[in-house]
Amino acid sequence: MSHIREVFSQEKIQSTIKQLAEKINSHYQDSQDAVVAVCVLKGAFVFFADLIRKLHFDLEIDFVRLASYGKGTSRGEKVIFSKDMEIPITDRHVLIIEDIVDTGTTVNYLSRVLATRRPKSVKVCTLVHKPSRREVQVDIDFYGFEVDQGFIVGYGLDFAEKYRNLPNICELVE
Ligand code: IMP
Ligand code: MG
Repeated sequence: MSHIREVFSQEKIQSTIKQLAEKINSHYQDSQDAVVAVCVLKGAFVFFADLIRKLHFDLEIDFVRLASYGKGTSRGEKVIFSKDMEIPITDRHVLIIEDIVDTGTTVNYLSRVLATRRPKSVKVCTLVHKPSRREVQVDIDFYGFEVDQGFIVGYGLDFAEKYRNLPNICELVE
């Protein structure tokens, strides 16, 4: 059993999401069309639920789940959809909502697949971004926190499926 240490409190998470929502609201405020917000399961579901309730433009929601193989080997890692979207996105604005962008593999794959469906635009929002770990190029349009090192859990994020129910974000410590 690992120990955990808080890195972002519930209050800090909520104030960061409020600022993030203001940026996203101002980006889409003049949009004539609804935006399709895509939650990347499982990790992003808590963040997604809090964030979308602070967005004040026409919004539709959908979910995807991606599975990656060869974790740990990094190079040659393969990603597949284990659950695809249900809403067609051709000629629609799409906002991908992720928990963490780490190596970038997942968001890079998802953006490329969604782009083949000819959406009007695709933007990426992640709660946490770890730029020092990037292996694949990704454009991040909106993010909440930048983390340099360590493995974090809580607020939807897991370690071996545990800790998703923590209300705050913690670092795993030996
Ligand atoms: P990427 O494809 O390497 O960018 O990693 C994407 C996924 O790895 C994230 O959506 C998370 O599910 C998981 N992940 C990466 N770093 C962490 C972490 O520090 N804590 C929990 N999950 C993580
Ligand atoms: Mg994830």
